[in-house]
Amino acid sequence: MTTEWHDVGASADVSEDMPLTTKLGDKEIGVYRLKGQYYALEDVCPHAYALLSQGFVMNDEIECPLHGARWNICSGKMTAEPGGRDLRCYPCKEENGRVLIQATAT
Ligand code: FES
Repeated sequence: MTTEWHDVGASADVSEDMPLTTKLGDKEIGVYRLKGQYYALEDVCPHAYALLSQGFVMNDEIECPLHGARWNICSGKMTAEPGGRDLRCYPCKEENGRVLIQATAT
């Protein structure tokens, strides 16, 4: 099993209020930009099926578009039910105008 950095798109395509939706193997991942930093979180809501990156960014939180659960984008910590649990976070960085995510290829 190898963990490596994956190029998932141009950093210019990620804005503070418009996350990037991407897929690495079978993992759906949402990429967020907050105050110039990039964050990558699992994108499928643990409550039911909704893509969180299509939800609403408010301050440093993402709100699920289906039932309104919320998580902190920087830590993945759940801040409002009915999310059920914290989100998995992936190491994420910007290099030469590209967004890179560290994840295990599957
Ligand atoms: S599907 Fe996300 S809170 Fe229900």
